[in-house]
Amino acid sequence: MTLKIEPLDGPLGARVLGLDSGKPLTDEDFATLEQAMLDHLAIVVPELEENVTWLRDLGRRFGPLVPHVLDQYHHPETYEVSIIARHTGTAESRTTAIPAGAFWHTDLSYEENPSDAIFLYATQIPSTGGDTIAANMYLAYESLSEKTKARIEDLTATHRWGWNTGGGTPTLTAEQQATHPDVVHPVVRVHPRTGRKALFVNPGYVMKINEVSEGESEELLGELFEHALNPDFHYRHTWSLNMLFGLDNRASMHCAVNDYTEPRRMLRMIVGCTESLQQAA
Ligand code: SIN
Repeated sequence: MTLKIEPLDGPLGARVLGLDSGKPLTDEDFATLEQAMLDHLAIVVPELEENVTWLRDLGRRFGPLVPHVLDQYHHPETYEVSIIARHTGTAESRTTAIPAGAFWHTDLSYEENPSDAIFLYATQIPSTGGDTIAANMYLAYESLSEKTKARIEDLTATHRWGWNTGGGTPTLTAEQQATHPDVVHPVVRVHPRTGRKALFVNPGYVMKINEVSEGESEELLGELFEHALNPDFHYRHTWSLNMLFGLDNRASMHCAVNDYTEPRRMLRMIVGCTESLQQAA
């Protein structure tokens, strides 16, 4: 395949043309896609015929795929792909207070080894709404004042599963919950592949900054979140059917917009961590 990469007009993202889910992905195609994700943080493939095993194989090229913690959301053809459905009137449709991912977060930041990337593929979309917004956390970091950069340089934050997700995460049993103890990550992360610094806090999973008082932590997190939620750093992704969206989680956060009542169904792959944060820092 000869792939064409067209940068989007905005703070992140590139359109990929020429990808064909009926043909095996060559090493050259993968290298092009990987480089596009590194250069632009996100890729958008406008039209790709549904082929679940091909999608899974694409995801696997980026790293180990992390299955959903709950088996009922696994795709029947492969547990490495999960189904994120809402208002579909089927057993796979989520019944959480708000849709999955409808809060600002970075996938698996509550794990010791967070995720490198997320891929979403649309199999059903509402006639309006249901966008996904992604924030460029390189830009969020780079645009902080020098004073704030110096203040947060050596700070760490505690991340917790389901912390501030507004009911967007399913309730886990005590046993499942125990597999997700709180974790600590640097507030400023160095991307292991690009060497660029990114702000690595998100409202969904970050509870507190560890080295300061409770009050100071709340104030500083409020300041950092408000800064990162500036639309200047955002790309709002509007879905069409059979579209694939891939996002580098190491320097971004995202939020599914909860503004629709018609069926929406995504296939999701979460790529695990290929290089630990400790190595990266
Ligand atoms: C997610 O964050 O896992 C899902 C995002 C979306 O459905 O747009």
